[in-house]
Amino acid sequence: MHGQWSSRWTFILAATGAAVGLGNIWKFPYLTGQNGGSAFVLVYVVCVAALGIPLMMAEILLGRRGRSTPIRTMQVLAEETRAAQWWQIIGWSGTLAGMLILSYYSVIGGWTLAYIFKSAVGTFSGASGQFAADTFEHFVESPTGLFFWHTLFMILTMGVVAGGVQGGLEKAVQILMPTLFFLLLLMVGYSMTTGFFGKGLAFLFTPDFSKLSGASMLSAMGQAFFSLSLGMGTIMIYGSYVPKDTSIASTSIIIALADTLVALLAGMAIFPIVFANNLEPGSGPGLIFQTLPVAFGNMNGGLAFGSLFFILLLVAAWTSSISLIEPFVTWLIETFGLSRVKAAVYSGVATWLLGLGTVLSFNWGAKVKFFGLTFFELLDYITSNLMLPLGGILIALFAGWLMKVESTKAELRIMNPGAFVAWQVLVRYIAPIAVFIVLLNSLGIL
Ligand code: PFF
Repeated sequence: MHGQWSSRWTFILAATGAAVGLGNIWKFPYLTGQNGGSAFVLVYVVCVAALGIPLMMAEILLGRRGRSTPIRTMQVLAEETRAAQWWQIIGWSGTLAGMLILSYYSVIGGWTLAYIFKSAVGTFSGASGQFAADTFEHFVESPTGLFFWHTLFMILTMGVVAGGVQGGLEKAVQILMPTLFFLLLLMVGYSMTTGFFGKGLAFLFTPDFSKLSGASMLSAMGQAFFSLSLGMGTIMIYGSYVPKDTSIASTSIIIALADTLVALLAGMAIFPIVFANNLEPGSGPGLIFQTLPVAFGNMNGGLAFGSLFFILLLVAAWTSSISLIEPFVTWLIETFGLSRVKAAVYSGVATWLLGLGTVLSFNWGAKVKFFGLTFFELLDYITSNLMLPLGGILIALFAGWLMKVESTKAELRIMNPGAFVAWQVLVRYIAPIAVFIVLLNSLGIL
């Protein structure tokens, strides 16, 4: 028997737990910094609202109808709608994207692990911005350290996947995620005392369109997909457990709001510290590791708060990492009849090996470039900026054009006819066209 979430809130919390991860707290701030701030934030928020919410509805809807792994769900739905079997590509590309993303996500999850220990032993007591920046530089210079932490993070992830004990972790998340949220608020409170809070806010929220390029628009759109875990079928799996009488629309809106709020709070916590300490907003993937320790090192009780913050960030990363690999693991089990443990070990080892490329891209291999990008940047570009948006287009087209209108209507249960038409227009035309334009524009074609 296929299970079901016990209530709408359990689903909302579980889906938010999977959506909120390193993407919100690690990636959003550094991408914002690299892309000049406010205009990037604005495009990101518009993408979440106009593309993210309707697409999340589409994914949940397909999941609730197909009730299986993304690959199998798309197979079932293609049969049901007499659509061509190649629509399964949505499931394939999503499953692959999950592995590719996890390979580097695990390396950054490893950084989080390392920072729990660094904070706990008082490395950052009284730290200056320069000290925190140097500590990070020094940390990523050593492949052996990164190798160790990446390995440990992958073992943690695969341990849960192999044990099939996601349920326990999800329950823990229901307490830990709200705690993380409060700690973020506390960090924003600290940032207010730096004297640079206004400057941080202006950087994030005063639109400066001169900073907007095709590449930064694509990056903002990709980040919207990444942060909401869209375009790769993860949400489909979650959707398959949603009770029939749950409103998909309002649920999607709540998840998107919560996810975006966490990202914006992270930005509001970090940029005032950046400016107060003369750090570089565009310094890249190390940004939160170079800024937050300064706050912990200089606030009362910072040792405890700092360690707790990185522990919670680890848990947030952990739940997301499980949802990244789960489609592949389930597919291995269903297709080859492997045991869960074997499937977890095989997929874990493969992903871990690929992750070594990311480990090296921050030190020995930093100069090895593919199209001007390091290995890590290349993987991130291919997944966030290409695979997820393209997967999203296909999901939108499938839900908008191939599913029978009666079935989408029955699933979505939107009472207001105008709202249903609005959703239809968004998934049929606006989302696919917008994604396409942004992609072409970033390639300099449009
Ligand atoms: N949304 C997660 C984050 O923001 O960290 C990353 C992610 C998880 C992306 C699961 C995609 C996914 F399927």
